[in-house]
Amino acid sequence: MAADYGPGRTGRFSDELLNEIRAKSDIVAVIGEYVPLKKRGSNYLGLCPFHQEKTPSFTVTPDKQMFYCFGCQTGGNVLTFLMKREGLTFGEAVEHLAARAGVALPEKGWDRRRAGARGAAAAEADERRRSERDLLYRLLDFASRFYHQALLRSPEAEAARQYLRRRGVSPASVEAFRLGYSPKGWDALLKTLTAKRVDPAVLERAGLVLKGREGHYDRFRGRLMFTIADHRGRPIGFGARALEDSDEPKYLNSPETPLFSKSRVLYGLNLAAQAIRRAGRVLVVEGYMDAIACHEAGLDFTVAAMGTAFTAEQARLLRRHTERVVTAFDADSAGTLATLRGLEVLTAAGFNVKVAEMPEGKDPDECLRGAAGGPEAFRAAIEEAVPLPEYRFRLALRRYEPTTIEGRVAVVKEIVPVLAAIEGIVEREEYLRDFARRLPVPEESLLAELARYLRAASDARRAGVRDSIAKWRNNEEGLGRPGRRGRESLHRPVEAAQRTLLAYMVRAEETLHLVLAELLEASDWCSRIGLDRGDGGEREEEQERDQDEVAAASEDDFEPTEHEALALGWFLNPVHRRVARAVLDLARTGSVEAARLVDGLGPEDEEDVRTAVRALFEAENLPAEAEKAIRDCVGVLKEHRLLSRIDKLHRRISELERDGVPVEREYAELLRELIDLERHTDGGTGHWTVPGD
Ligand code: CTP
Ligand code: MN
Repeated sequence: MAADYGPGRTGRFSDELLNEIRAKSDIVAVIGEYVPLKKRGSNYLGLCPFHQEKTPSFTVTPDKQMFYCFGCQTGGNVLTFLMKREGLTFGEAVEHLAARAGVALPEKGWDRRRAGARGAAAAEADERRRSERDLLYRLLDFASRFYHQALLRSPEAEAARQYLRRRGVSPASVEAFRLGYSPKGWDALLKTLTAKRVDPAVLERAGLVLKGREGHYDRFRGRLMFTIADHRGRPIGFGARALEDSDEPKYLNSPETPLFSKSRVLYGLNLAAQAIRRAGRVLVVEGYMDAIACHEAGLDFTVAAMGTAFTAEQARLLRRHTERVVTAFDADSAGTLATLRGLEVLTAAGFNVKVAEMPEGKDPDECLRGAAGGPEAFRAAIEEAVPLPEYRFRLALRRYEPTTIEGRVAVVKEIVPVLAAIEGIVEREEYLRDFARRLPVPEESLLAELARYLRAASDARRAGVRDSIAKWRNNEEGLGRPGRRGRESLHRPVEAAQRTLLAYMVRAEETLHLVLAELLEASDWCSRIGLDRGDGGEREEEQERDQDEVAAASEDDFEPTEHEALALGWFLNPVHRRVARAVLDLARTGSVEAARLVDGLGPEDEEDVRTAVRALFEAENLPAEAEKAIRDCVGVLKEHRLLSRIDKLHRRISELERDGVPVEREYAELLRELIDLERHTDGGTGHWTVPGD
């Protein structure tokens, strides 16, 4: 196992250098090697390499040296393109591009003094420019080597070396994971680094020393040191284990620093990344020793979550390597519930998650060292890992007594939130049937419990949503007068959102495209969550009526494309929809200006359409962060469509319950649809759960 603590490359590329490389690389030429591009206006257009599509929505803008896909919203500069397309790190993308453009790069190496070729003066200038972050990286790397050397050589570390032998950690692992020992004295590291003129205040910010009344002192003393590296192998923090039981706490970790955040790193990922790709899955364990033991046993696709619940950030780190996760942790450990919650984060992020059942009270390290059937049994447990809902069901069956009524009730209570969390409709139905059969309880009862659970949760959520709508409305200021339907409470924010979107549509080509992309995404979202099926016809009727109204009012020969029609469908107010049509019409032939827009309106357009148009161009208080504002507005429209449908389902379900026919087919179908939709309302934060996000 070769250590991957390669030389820190941060600061290797100065801004001037990066600018030079970018200036010498034409983004159209670079991307053109991957995607056939056609010139369209000042932009280039092609089929997006990041998602499947038949009509091109991938644009490259040479003026800005940027690319953006309206279909999947992937965008960036030439470096990001290479990173995404080729799976390169930033450094690799720079190297690739520099080679292509014929720009020479400075030598690799964390120690600038070795980069002699560019001369002392240049190196010094670099030194001055280097940010604090880079200094921290070098300090952490130094500390990691310092502790490692102490473990290997210091007489004082004999107890630590014995401890590792006793726990069966091989010298190869000590090397690969760069384990270490922090000397007991209060200033071993501090003295060494201050002798190199490092400011103790910086060491404090690096999380290496603490400040007391009598000055600074080493944070880690007399402990076994686990170097925590980022995914590129750069040391960013430490986990420090006590060597004696009497020493509290058992583990002491680096504090949050500019480099280290426990929730953003996975222990061992730098060493496991390749193996994860090869194995097509990752094994996630809780502790440092678990990860090391797994690597020693040949399960080198293992990372440790370090006892915390999984975060979205950690999920993103894994996503680059695999979509399949197997977890193995001690079922009784205090961290398990938190970890299980964390696994739901992974499931929500689209990972295929399985849980290996560990013998009670044993962690992977203990199993691999011989407990409960030893390595063989452990490997078998990994292969027999089950999906999360099944695991939770088994836990519940074990915890309660399903042969009694109370026991079954307890299991149902525990399993209902698990069912509620399942994303796929088919999958949830399968589990529901399976669990009902195995408990056993009638399927309808479990379904009704699930509906009741979701309804209770959604009542609370909807109160939150209404709050957030009210807040949003208060922030939003008069963009023209309210539309003529703006009377009902839920309609007003919707009207305001539509006006804001229109204002962005006429503001610039870029924001027009953002609005369209966001609305298309919203339509996609509707079909993904099943919001476009069986709508009871009410909304369509309403829209058709409006459509007729608009068609009658405007004898334009504008034929919207399928995409444009979808986007237009989000403008519920007929006046707004009329204006949106006119904007799209104009955008095809040139810039959208107030005069052209007003000219384009026929005499048959009502006065309120004209007024609305004028108001749009007078709108001056548009938020500067267009992207966020547009997303928020579209969020309001999605919210409205979803809540309207849910309200209607609630009404119909209550009617059926009043009539006393709760187990009929229609009832069950409505419940199922409601359950599906309820899951997509959120806690009123205005952020929407979009599958696959
Ligand atoms: N942990 C931590 N701080 C603590 C306790 C635990 O950061 N005070 C993290 C560590 O990453 C630890 C993991 O949670 O490795 C699991 O904790 P635990 O099960 O208590 O320790 P083990 O990993 O089993 O450690 P050991 O086998 O050395 O006892
Ligand atoms: Mn352990």
